[in-house]
Amino acid sequence: MKDALANAEDKRAAGEAVAALVEDGMVVGLGTGSTVAWTIRRLGSMVGDGLEILGVPTSYQAESLAIECGITLTTLSQHPSLDLAIDGADQVDEGFFVIKGGGAAHAREKVVAYSARRFAIVADASKYVPRLDHPVPLEVLPFAAGIVSRKVEELGGRATLRQAKMKDGPVITDNGNFIVDADFGEILDPSLLANRLSAIPGLVEHGIFENLDRLYIARSGEVEVIDRPK
Ligand code: A5P
Repeated sequence: MKDALANAEDKRAAGEAVAALVEDGMVVGLGTGSTVAWTIRRLGSMVGDGLEILGVPTSYQAESLAIECGITLTTLSQHPSLDLAIDGADQVDEGFFVIKGGGAAHAREKVVAYSARRFAIVADASKYVPRLDHPVPLEVLPFAAGIVSRKVEELGGRATLRQAKMKDGPVITDNGNFIVDADFGEILDPSLLANRLSAIPGLVEHGIFENLDRLYIARSGEVEVIDRPK
């Protein structure tokens, strides 16, 4: 309980600190989840003080929060190239590999992050690990859930179709797909696994991100900024 409260405070600290990267005129990708929600709120208050930005939301959650906070939104069709994308993570390792998709939003999050010149992640310190071992969320065509699960098992993983909490049956993503969580235990070579997952038919997007530039990690209220190792 104490840990959960400390993590909640650290989520806020990291989420707010990254807002210092945002400048007038930028087009900014707005991530999904409870940590980057603090970024969106902070950006909303900066907009109230005169900051002029456009936001590209990564989910219905990010969209509605950004609207509530007074951030003007745009689309990737209008702005295919973003200055910066900011998002949360489920896990980040010391090699700057990231797992995302705990909120089932990683497909849009990845499109937005890879459309940006810079990608920053905000997280509490519990997410920062020497080596990834979090299950990898896979967004899959409902029609392909069976073959994707079988291929995951052939790769040595354990596949679980994610179930909804307030609905009977599987989680349905913002894109109308299912989520399969693929547990590989400790992931020794995230790039290799990413390539293998990308080759599975019917797998729309996996949750391994390889484009992180800057990490904001908060521990006991202190935010450490770590740039991608050269
Ligand atoms: C959304 O699908 C995820 O990628 C989130 O960005 C990630 O789960 C972080 O969530 P929290 O900031 O709520 O921990």
